Amino acid sequence: MGERVELGPAQETMLIPLYGRAVETRKAHPLVRDPRAVDLVESIDYDFAKFDGGRSLAGSVLRGMVFDHWVADFLHDHPHGTVVEIGAGLNTRFERLDNGSCHWVDLDLPDSMALRRKFFTETDRRVMVSGSVVDGDWLEVVRRQPGPYFFVAEAVLIYLSEADARTSVARIAAEFPGALIAFDTWGEWIIRNQKRHDALRKMSASLEWACDDPRALKAWHPGLRLVETATVGAQPDVLRQLPRAYRMIMRLIKLLPQTRAYRLNLYRT
Ligand SMILES: C[S@@+](CC[C@H](N)C(=O)[O-])C[C@H]1O[C@@H](n2cnc3c(N)ncnc32)[C@H](O)[C@@H]1O
Repeated sequence: MGERVELGPAQETMLIPLYGRAVETRKAHPLVRDPRAVDLVESIDYDFAKFDGGRSLAGSVLRGMVFDHWVADFLHDHPHGTVVEIGAGLNTRFERLDNGSCHWVDLDLPDSMALRRKFFTETDRRVMVSGSVVDGDWLEVVRRQPGPYFFVAEAVLIYLSEADARTSVARIAAEFPGALIAFDTWGEWIIRNQKRHDALRKMSASLEWACDDPRALKAWHPGLRLVETATVGAQPDVLRQLPRAYRMIMRLIKLLPQTRAYRLNLYRT
């Protein structure tokens, strides 16, 4: 019998990207290899099959590749720096990118973190914190790690109200000048049509914060500057790694309103 999951609505969505990476890994020619995700899916008692055939599995894999690319770039330049995974869920980014010298902080809500702790352990370079990104208490733990810092919130802030997303981002910008912060923004079109989303319509979580223009966030804090923004299939460095057939599909997919409304963004604070 696998580990039973008792998670709040937004917290349960962590199982979508986890399953996406596991399904991808089992393919003959996977875009990512994540054997840990396969183990986790096999260890958790959950109806993952309900996500089968949905576009969001491949979408979450491609999204993760962009965030991995940005974090890997940061670690290349700053091998002893700290990566802060906000809303870590059961993400295995540390397992994918650890260079043997970086520091890592995983943050998630108490029930999510309790589940995460069943599968991952802390080390002298990796700490796990239970709390909400909206309350600033966890920043104290980050401050104890060496800089520079890269904050990544993959598919997390969209579950917050705009006011809470703003509070969270502005606080990081104010307290960690010079840091990088990466997160996705989902436009009004997606929020309006969320009941049609292939995976979310099978869950009770709801998307809250709509953002059509990631540049507009400079109003959130004077130090917040957009460094790069891309749609899921169109970040140039990641696109280049994809097989030709994918690249052709991406050319078509990027015309869809849901793709255009969904952006992956990298900011400098
Ligand atoms: C779609 S999952 C993404 C998980 C992970 N980032 C990944 O890509 O695999 C959303 C995550 O956001 C977390 N989350 C939601 N609200 C949060 C909050 N206020 N503070 C911290 N984490 C939060 C959930 O617990 C969940 O793990």
